[in-house]
Amino acid sequence: MHHILLASDTDFEGWRTAARALLRADVAPADIAWDVEGRAAVLFAPTPLPQPDGDSAAVHVPAAFMNLARSAILNREPQRFALLYRLLWRLRAEPELMRLATDEDVMRIGSLARDVHRDEHKMQAFVRFREIGRERESRYVAWFEPAHYIVEATAPFFAQRFADMAWSILTPDRCAHWDGSHTVFTEGATKADAPAGDPLETVWRTYYASIFNPARLKVRAMKAEMPVKYWRNLPEASLIDPLIRKAGQRTQDMVAQPPTAPHGSPQRKEAVMDKVPATSDALAHLRHEVMACRACHLWQDATQTVFGEGPSHAPVMLVGEQPGDKEDLAGRPFVGPAGQMLDRALAEAGIDRDKVYVTNAVKHFKFVPRGKIRLHQKPNAGEIKACRPWYVRERALVKPTLVVALGATAAHCVFGKATPIGKSCGRLIDLDDGAQAIVTVHPSYLLRLPDDNEKAAQYAAFVADLKLVARALRQADAA
Ligand code: URA
Repeated sequence: MHHILLASDTDFEGWRTAARALLRADVAPADIAWDVEGRAAVLFAPTPLPQPDGDSAAVHVPAAFMNLARSAILNREPQRFALLYRLLWRLRAEPELMRLATDEDVMRIGSLARDVHRDEHKMQAFVRFREIGRERESRYVAWFEPAHYIVEATAPFFAQRFADMAWSILTPDRCAHWDGSHTVFTEGATKADAPAGDPLETVWRTYYASIFNPARLKVRAMKAEMPVKYWRNLPEASLIDPLIRKAGQRTQDMVAQPPTAPHGSPQRKEAVMDKVPATSDALAHLRHEVMACRACHLWQDATQTVFGEGPSHAPVMLVGEQPGDKEDLAGRPFVGPAGQMLDRALAEAGIDRDKVYVTNAVKHFKFVPRGKIRLHQKPNAGEIKACRPWYVRERALVKPTLVVALGATAAHCVFGKATPIGKSCGRLIDLDDGAQAIVTVHPSYLLRLPDDNEKAAQYAAFVADLKLVARALRQADAA
């Protein structure tokens, strides 16, 4: 008997190396016992892998098998390693085996892989992050109990979706941690390690209750979409039963209610304006005006308008895209992860952030809710156009000699038309009123780059662009 010990439950490479050596040495499936290091069931010392002799033929494996095997190995089914080897063994004599949809082994590997894919989708849909810490120090932590060993396979989805925030997903098998540029995996955790609730959760529950439409209640469809076993980790779950129970009464009340005041009504506008401190400064007046902007629909879901900040006559104006989640809550531009990246690059280029004016092309956060997270959405041309008059007036007051457009949305706003940034990047471009503009990448773009070398190269180019800005600042200081 050959006792093969794999390094972990997801050790596909280990399985592949062993399977290749065993196949070349003609070891039959029945003569192999597969196990995973660290499992209580491991009773035997592992057998060294057979050494290939010069005559053994190369093993050719169809891509269809490899694709299924990579997913099926993540299934919790203990017999999966043996099943995969049996299929490999049979493929030598039956090269068309994977096409036999009625074969028991082929059906089994397909069903294991499908279960894994389903579990990955559930994880993508039902992970709910809870915030710990605030503003720049904050981190989002989620507890999830996957049915299979899918944490490593699913982590890239979260890294891409939530590139701008530092997050950890804790599970009993494995934990994934993202710091804005790398994912690190650690040992499994317990539910007690994850925060149980946070202030955002209350906001999320309120939001969920407000979007729950009792007149459109379909309990069966709801439970199919959101299987009950995931409810214990969903903050909104505690609301579902009471909302369902009260649905009938709420529908009757809705029908009986008088119409509500439209969003743009004077009452609502006054409520927002009351919060803005009155000052005589022209920029402060503009800020006051923009707080009540209804030029597009984005104000409806945003917490507040995020206006620019910095010295009122700064020689340099940085223009970003739109406030992100953190900026929307704080009411200030570039205070979240993209802001941290910007601060780092500014410091490296020798620019004091306090000396530049920082604003955004679009002044409201555009997002779609995904679970408890508000997922950033790129503003469209209509939204950029609707918001542009604020930028024009802001620039007319600050009168910077250099405007820095961070990314394509900012370039669209600065030049008043869609402007591909590749061609303009790093060049000084004359503006109509004698000022100049420079286009560079947006810091969020750098945060999202998956490849470390590419990220380092793009970051260096970003800092090089900012050094041009530093020079302009020095010249302004000297003048
Ligand atoms: N991204 C932006 O473009 N602006 C901000 O204020 C924050 C993130």
